[in-house]
Parts: sequence; structure tokens; C-alpha cells
Amino acid sequence: MSEVVLTARDLTRHYEVSRGLFKGYATVRALNGVSFELEAGKTLAVVGESGCGKSTLARALTLIEEPSSGSLKIAGQEVTGAGKRERKQLRRDVQMVFQSPYASLNPRQKIGDQLAEPLLINTALSRTERREKVQAMMLQVGLRPEHYQRYPHMFSGGQRQRIALARAMMLQPKVLVADEPTSALDVSIQAQVLNLFMDLQKEFNTAYVFISHNLAVVRHVADQVLVMYLGRPAEMGPKADIYEKPLHPYTQALLSATPTIHPDPLKPKIKIAGELPNPLNPPDGCAFHKRCPYATERCGREVPAFRQVGTRQVACHYAEQFL
Ligand SMILES: Nc1ncnc2c1ncn2[C@@H]1O[C@H](COP(=O)(O)OP(=O)(O)OP(=O)(O)O)[C@@H](O)[C@H]1O
Ligand code: SF4
Ligand SMILES: [Mg+2]
Repeated sequence: MSEVVLTARDLTRHYEVSRGLFKGYATVRALNGVSFELEAGKTLAVVGESGCGKSTLARALTLIEEPSSGSLKIAGQEVTGAGKRERKQLRRDVQMVFQSPYASLNPRQKIGDQLAEPLLINTALSRTERREKVQAMMLQVGLRPEHYQRYPHMFSGGQRQRIALARAMMLQPKVLVADEPTSALDVSIQAQVLNLFMDLQKEFNTAYVFISHNLAVVRHVADQVLVMYLGRPAEMGPKADIYEKPLHPYTQALLSATPTIHPDPLKPKIKIAGELPNPLNPPDGCAFHKRCPYATERCGREVPAFRQVGTRQVACHYAEQFL
């Protein structure tokens, strides 16, 4: 059994937003009850349309934002109620890579110094030792020693994302959360950067939470897949099962909208009808029912439980029928 390094239990995050002048406030349930366990060296990919709560989840997992409720355990340690010192350690254990490397890198600092900074703050290594470690990591992510003295703007987008990844990996975190790390890059270099993510994961046995709306990318990197819809989990399970036979109608629709090299003429294309509902005013019952081709009267009334069906969990009243 591999070690579980990240446990989320019923994580929620709500935001109070203004409805407009004199109209009071409303609550957006950006994240509404997400639970999972992640083992060292494994990747959980999180997918779903824009606004379904992926980045909100990322911010909760990396302690950038407090969850409204629920619990989070990092490397066996409960985050809620942890003291200042423990939180500092926990922050080291979960690192994040953002979509834009500019969110992770300081434009005015040489990249060698930026890579050395986590070591300077968190370890007692000497200047020479830090430099050695930084150069070893630079080599690992495909940068040359002379790059040490350069500034972020002197690199291409792909190289900058390599630097951001190197920085996140400097302290060998237990968990790396990557929020759309390749979606701002040219398609031609996405694969190289993804492969680098995979290589470093193998090298350091890091657990990844990998957020992407690109199902081809997810297929490449994931062990487990979590599909979200309007802040809630719709389906979660082993990648092979989800891609082979998606059980939630929303997953079916997402996958059928993904171009494949060998389209299966026997598989009907399912279109997601209609707009994503307003998160300030989500529909009653199953949040997907206004767009679901299989919706019944029950779906508009009763929220489907997120429950075990075979090897995975699904939030659909009729999931068994798709097995
Ligand atoms: N700070 C905030 N204040 C108010 N509402 C927010 C805040 N952050 C996110 N939201 C809302 O929470 C919901 C989830 O947003 P989130 O950014 O997590 O989605 P996402 O899945 O990352 O989307 P995308 O694919 O576009 O990055 C959205 O309805 C968003 O408008
Ligand atoms: S519960 Fe009903 S509306 Fe929701 S996904 Fe299942 S069939 Fe569709
Ligand atoms: Mg996002």
C-alpha cells in the first residue's frame, strides 16, 4: 500500500457576492462537498467546465484560502486547527504551479536566486550547497547553468513553466497542485512540458492534483479523474474506467465532445445542451438536470447522492443503467 499524502473530506468554499446596488448579497457555492484521497506518486486530474470550482479547490488544497467547511489532511496532518509552525511545514508540503508562470515567478529576480529562495528560507544549507542544488534542479528541467543569471522575461513560455515547476519542486513537496499548467502554452511544446511533469513525479514520488479542461491532456497524466459540475463532484474513479465507460451523463457529454484520433462510429455524440446555470441560482435537484438528455421528474426534485457504483463514485440517480 502506498502512503496517502492528501485527504480531503467534504471540502466546501462559499463566497458572498453582491447582487448589485441595494440588492443585498448572495452565496456562490464555488466548492460544494469534495472528498478524495491521494497517494504518493499518483495523479488526480480535476476536470469540468469553466466556473465549476477547479481553481477554488486548488486554492483550498494549497492553503491559499481557508475552506468554509470540511477537512483537509496533508501528509497525515490535519490542517484545520494546526498551529503556526505546523502550517508553515504544511505549506512546504503542498506546492502550486499556476497557468501563468508569471504568477509563480518574480520578474525582477534572477531565476537562480528564485530557485534558491525556498532553500534559503527553509533549510540551513550553505550558499554553495544551495547553488549546487539549484543547478542540479535546473539540469533536471532542461535549463543550462548559464541560465542561472537570467530574468524570467528572457525565457520562452515553455521554459518559464519549467522554471515554475523547478521552483515548486525545490523542497520536494509531498503534493503538487497544478492549475492548467500547460493551457497557456503553444500546443507544440505542451507535450514536452507535460512529460517533464511526469518525469519529476517519478523522480520524487510526488502526488499531483492536475487541473485541466483538456481531456486529452488528462488522459495522458491521470491515475484518477474527478469530474466536477457547479462545485460538486459528478464522477470520480480510475482513468481507464472513466474514459472507457463514463457513467455520469455530464462525463459522457464532456468525453463525446473531445476530438479523438480514432472516433468510434458506434458511439453516439452527446451534445451538452443549454448554458451552464448561474452559480448564484443553481437548479434544484440534480444541478445538471436542465442540460441532461436522461433527466426525469425525480432529477429536478432530488439531489443525487455521490455514491459508489462499481469502481467509482457517481452522482446520478441512474448511474447503474450506464454500466
Ligand atoms: N473570490 C471570489 N469571489 C466570488 N466568487 C468567486 C471567487 N472565486 C471564484 N468565484 C466563483 O466561484 C465559482 C468557481 O470558480 P473557479 O475559479 O474555482 O472555477 P474554475 O473551475 O477554476 O474555472 P476556470 O476553468 O474558468 O478556471 C465561479 O462561479 C466563480 O465566479
Ligand atoms: S440525476 Fe438525472 S439529471 Fe442528473 S445526471 Fe443523472 S439522469 Fe441526468
Ligand atoms: Mg480556474
